[in-house]
Amino acid sequence: MLHKPLGLLAELTHRCALGCPYCSNPLALDARKDELDTAAWLRVFREAAELGVLQLHLSGGEPGTRRDLVDLAAGAHVAGLYTNLITSAVGITEETLGALAKAGLDHVQISIQDSDAASADRIAGYRGAFAKKRALAAAVVRHNLLLTVNAVVHRANIERIGDMVDLALALGASRIEIAHVQYYGWALKNRAALMPSRAQVERAAAALSDLRSRHHGRIVIDAVIPDYYARYPKPCVGGWGRRSLNVTPSGKVLPCHAAESLTGLEFWNVRQHSLADIWANSPAFNAFRGTAWMKEPCASCPRRELDFGGCRCQAFALTGDAAATDPVCQLAPNHARVAELAAVQTDAPYVYRRMASRHRADVFDGDDALSTQQRS
Ligand code: SF4
Ligand code: FES
Repeated sequence: MLHKPLGLLAELTHRCALGCPYCSNPLALDARKDELDTAAWLRVFREAAELGVLQLHLSGGEPGTRRDLVDLAAGAHVAGLYTNLITSAVGITEETLGALAKAGLDHVQISIQDSDAASADRIAGYRGAFAKKRALAAAVVRHNLLLTVNAVVHRANIERIGDMVDLALALGASRIEIAHVQYYGWALKNRAALMPSRAQVERAAAALSDLRSRHHGRIVIDAVIPDYYARYPKPCVGGWGRRSLNVTPSGKVLPCHAAESLTGLEFWNVRQHSLADIWANSPAFNAFRGTAWMKEPCASCPRRELDFGGCRCQAFALTGDAAATDPVCQLAPNHARVAELAAVQTDAPYVYRRMASRHRADVFDGDDALSTQQRS
């Protein structure tokens, strides 16, 4: 059965001033000249609403680098979509935020790298990023927009989950997402430097349970156990081609944000196809839809409709076979490999994500990136 998609992630651009060591953008970035223009995005939003999409996430890179961001938010609102802006906060001024609120933006999600300013800037590879995040969060609340804080956690900050929840409360957020680093794409280059120890993960799980009961009714705390320490995988993107789609800056439509890391898939583009055609018929969406593609042990597993065999991108990154059982699963033939990889941990400097120099001029004037050597 073909489900309707509920969410669309619009990656408006890959341009971004930060250098996060776990960046989820693909290894090969789309150049500014290849980005969809305003009219193309607005058509995509209308087609998404017609297809049944309810929630639109304006994302990147940093969506604030798009000069037409307010027009895009207005078009999404007119199309009837609930619109969420996912931002690093570096590049959105209060004036732009006010215009976005007037245009009908519903919600803002700001990522934080840590609760401690110096550590946060070091992880982001950008001096002053933390102060910009605090300032934008205050502006979001002033403009009566709903705020979610997204905290990506790993070995350098996992001990401060409680402080991050306190920070989210102080900023006026109604929700915090505590998301562990996902190890594919750029994060694979920093896996050992990002990998928490089992003891850290156990302390974080205990802290979370305490935080949830202490702050019940004040803030929603969403968090999951990091993959490499879990017994079963997550139902990544709610199942491949089942609930959501991603549109890249140049118009390719992907079943998940990391799908381009899988070799051999054919992605259709909104420049040539309607969103409805892509959702129903594109080879990439049909490659791992449902359960018919599964191998054992997933094919006969009672959990196959719960987790859909886990994450295809993680399965490919760890086994070279996108149709393999996600090795995070304790039933997977390659499960032992996950424990071996999780045991490799280091406090070595990060390899920051930097845009190629030919793209950097397009990001922001006067950005303040830290070099790898400035990390510690
Ligand atoms: Fe999920 Fe496959 Fe593991 Fe069963 S064997 S729990 S379907 S990943
Ligand atoms: Fe691609 Fe999980 S990130 S399927």
